[in-house]
Amino acid sequence: MADQRIAVLASGRGTNLQSLLDRTSDGSIPGKVVLVVSDVQGANALERAEKSDVETRFLDYAVFSRKSDYEQALLEVLEEKQPDLICLAGYMRILGSAIVKRFEGRIMNIHPSLLPAFPGLEAQRQALEYGVKVTGCTVHFVDAGMDTGPIILQRSCPVLDEDTPETLAARILEIEHRLYPLAVRLFFENKLESRGRRVYIKEDGI
Ligand code: GAR
Repeated sequence: MADQRIAVLASGRGTNLQSLLDRTSDGSIPGKVVLVVSDVQGANALERAEKSDVETRFLDYAVFSRKSDYEQALLEVLEEKQPDLICLAGYMRILGSAIVKRFEGRIMNIHPSLLPAFPGLEAQRQALEYGVKVTGCTVHFVDAGMDTGPIILQRSCPVLDEDTPETLAARILEIEHRLYPLAVRLFFENKLESRGRRVYIKEDGI
């Protein structure tokens, strides 16, 4: 089990990546991160990976003339590493359909809202602007849409009157750091059963 292989795609500071690195290294997740790819040069996520001796790749979107060329290059980088699971962790691009098809059912994303509310960018700001009293985060399988794939786990948290996008994001992020490793563990333990859009969890107390 412990040789399950995770590839992570991340564009930014990488705190969700860090939670996966921490939970794989302490054995809570029966697997290891074998590759971190970023579309942002110098992303903090790449530094975090290097500190954990994980192989990194920077793929510069700007050098490809078409999105499909970038996606093909990304697909090749991923295939080299033969991941059992691909985790999007603050990866700010929509994954191309070739990759989604190739790794169908084996790509997860974490999003800082209770989907289907507030997909896309700045979910926390969207939640504040809408005026909801409760929000949270969602781990879902990735399909060809934007934040539309089958939902694996969700957790809620309150929105406070005095919240700014930053304070709300910080409250949600704390939950993200527990929820993503849990979803990955359940996946590797074969405790996620997909039937159509619904993902059933074969474990008590989740
Ligand atoms: C996280 O809040 C994650 O849910 C969000 O970006 C942040 C990345 O933080 N992802 C999205 O909004 C995807 N649509 P991190 O780089 O510290 O993990």
